[in-house]
Amino acid sequence: MDGIVVLISGRGSNLAAICKNGLASQIKCVISNKAAALGLNIAKEYNIPTEVIDHKLYNDRTEFDQALAKIIDKHNPKLVVLAGFMRILSPYFVKHYLNRLINIHPSLLPSFVGINAQEQAISEKVKVSGATVHFVTEQLDHGPIIAQGVVKILPNDTPDILSQRILEIEHTIYPFAISKILKNHTKIIDQKYVEVIYDENDNSILGKYQSQIYY
Ligand code: GRF
Repeated sequence: MDGIVVLISGRGSNLAAICKNGLASQIKCVISNKAAALGLNIAKEYNIPTEVIDHKLYNDRTEFDQALAKIIDKHNPKLVVLAGFMRILSPYFVKHYLNRLINIHPSLLPSFVGINAQEQAISEKVKVSGATVHFVTEQLDHGPIIAQGVVKILPNDTPDILSQRILEIEHTIYPFAISKILKNHTKIIDQKYVEVIYDENDNSILGKYQSQIYY
């Protein structure tokens, strides 16, 4: 097993960040459940193979997930990366890729799971929010946390403005977490938390965000 497969449904800004941060050659395929997903164009720019699999053509979630897994498994990836893939995954799929499936969520988990995480953070009047990269388990937006990036919430933030600032940090934290996993610099302990092995290049990769990112 080597490399990654990235699953998207939309604009693909995280996919672009993964490509820009030196990981394009590791991506074996980008798969979208929507033919119109803008992220497919990003994959094409990098000459990465793409596939579209429309969930509406399947009778139920498991049937779709089985068809999806069949495409993914052709590439035998070390890691499956959810990057704005707007489908809840079946227990079958999560088990099939246990410890090989990661997600990025726009909040400091376990706070604000589900959709509109940025709006939830603003309405709860919390002082900071951010982004979390985690291994996927059957419970939505849970699972061992690999890295988190913190963003201060400002008085005039709207969900859109906050989303933009969180997205900036997502674009650093996700490529960072993926490269740590590919380098075998992560270890899942008791299926509960992740030990990330530090190396001296880490801070140069995290760049201007290094004081906001924890792992
Ligand atoms: C990001 O906000 C990510 O946290 C969430 O979905 C969004 C995907 O955005 N899981 P993009 O398609 O990568 O631009």
